[in-house]
Amino acid sequence: MSIIDRFLHPPAPHVEPVGTAAAARLAAIHASAFPRPWGTLDFERMLGERGIVADGLFLGRAKKPSGFVLSRIVLDEAEIITVAIAPEARGKGHARILLTPHLDALSRRGVARVHLEVEEGNGPAIALYRRAGFRETRRRAGYYHKADGTKASALTMALDL
Ligand SMILES: CC(C)(COP(=O)(O)OP(=O)(O)OC[C@H]1O[C@@H](n2cnc3c(N)ncnc32)[C@H](O)[C@@H]1OP(=O)(O)O)[C@@H](O)C(=O)NCCC(=O)NCCS
Repeated sequence: MSIIDRFLHPPAPHVEPVGTAAAARLAAIHASAFPRPWGTLDFERMLGERGIVADGLFLGRAKKPSGFVLSRIVLDEAEIITVAIAPEARGKGHARILLTPHLDALSRRGVARVHLEVEEGNGPAIALYRRAGFRETRRRAGYYHKADGTKASALTMALDL
């Protein structure tokens, strides 16, 4: 491929494992996505834990991820702890591109079942998980206390790999 071709055709979005060096960027994305953000130190600590699997989504030639997903493995089960895409990159199918190889990575590490919890009103996240094959297992009414003082229900979902 020529230099001009490379310029005209940037690499397709790709997914790679991320480690503690990405902690500040993950904290920034998390802060843009959730009302109670985790700091850089929280991410450094988590990314250093045994059993944590973290993947980042990289767009074009960017060195920093535009999204990430973080799971914790315990024996042959895993929990997706958080997934977020930077606001400017949402609504373009990126979360799906990110989740598919992440689930493959969990499967390769011997995970048979994946769990997660999501706010009932979070349409994009629920659509993402359903599309990946997750099914609702429980509903916890009024589980989340929102910043505006209201409560929201949680859905727990699971997928057998
Ligand atoms: C949830 C999130 C990761 C999705 O990322 P994304 O890259 O925008 O998602 P995608 O473009 O891959 O779309 C995922 C699905 O949501 C659907 N979707 C997009 N916007 C939607 C909306 N406002 N309402 C309902 N569904 C929507 C898409 O159509 C797609 O479904 P499909 O594959 O059946 O067509 C992203 O919105 C985000 O970071 N949100 C803030 C953090 C968050 O809520 N994380 C989940 C916590 S459990």
